[in-house]
Amino acid sequence: MNKISIKGLSVRFGDKAALRDVNLDVYEHEILSVIGPANSGKSTLLLCLNRMVDRIYGSRVDGKLLLDGQNVYSIEDVEELRRRVGIVFAVPIPLPMTIRENILFGPKLKGRLKRSEADHLVESSLKAAFLWDEVKDRLETFALRLSGGQQQRLCIARTLALKPEIIMFDEPCSGLDPISTAKVEEALKELKKSYTMIFVTNNTKQAARIGDRTAFLLMGELIEIDRTQTIFTVPSNKKTEEYVTGRFG
Ligand SMILES: Nc1ncnc2c1ncn2[C@@H]1O[C@H](COP(=O)(O)OP(=O)(O)OP(=O)(O)O)[C@@H](O)[C@H]1O
Ligand SMILES: [Mg+2]
Repeated sequence: MNKISIKGLSVRFGDKAALRDVNLDVYEHEILSVIGPANSGKSTLLLCLNRMVDRIYGSRVDGKLLLDGQNVYSIEDVEELRRRVGIVFAVPIPLPMTIRENILFGPKLKGRLKRSEADHLVESSLKAAFLWDEVKDRLETFALRLSGGQQQRLCIARTLALKPEIIMFDEPCSGLDPISTAKVEEALKELKKSYTMIFVTNNTKQAARIGDRTAFLLMGELIEIDRTQTIFTVPSNKKTEEYVTGRFG
């Protein structure tokens, strides 16, 4: 089943085209890896799905974006859309608060939480992000004292606390060491059972490890989308083959 359907999506920033006539679907509970060299439109694609692109001066979006069959541009409550479609960025930016407060910040904006509800939310979100065991004895510690990898998992936990349906990741491991990266990847594999995920990465090996399917973008165009194994072993397009074998990009 399609969680997201993108039809004829084109995005311009002023007179510059960032995406051209992109058509792709994201299935429920899959991880879709999105790869491509710099400036290929990967981040722009994510920013369209929760309409953060609307905030960019001079942006223009054409085409159709459907979430559970509903046009994303006919959704009136954009904040609710952004809760449903969460995003985790490359650089983890915890709020200057404790670990616990970081998790509860978003949910509390929607209303008061009972102590027991808050405790449960903190624990379940941290467990799902594979961070609980490392921080359960120090939830009142200032979040900025965590390591980079822990901060990134905290940002994932913070997104999960809002109970999203889709989680988009924009190069979430680019600043992490291999061990922290492995932990984030482990968390993602577990999350797949409950969420639909789009995973943008510059790292083709990581895309191959993580994605059920992989989409290859180049200069704003979707060159190919297929099962990850196919993209990395027998892609149909020559450009895809050149990119995944490291001949350019
Ligand atoms: N805020 C903006 N204003 C103007 N142009 C932008 C803006 N954001 C992106 N672009 C342009 O849109 C195109 C696609 O950029 P995008 O950031 O989506 O690429 P990307 O694939 O995520 O690249 P990277 O791998 O470097 O993150 C680029 O040509 C970029 O210069
Ligand atoms: Mg980007």
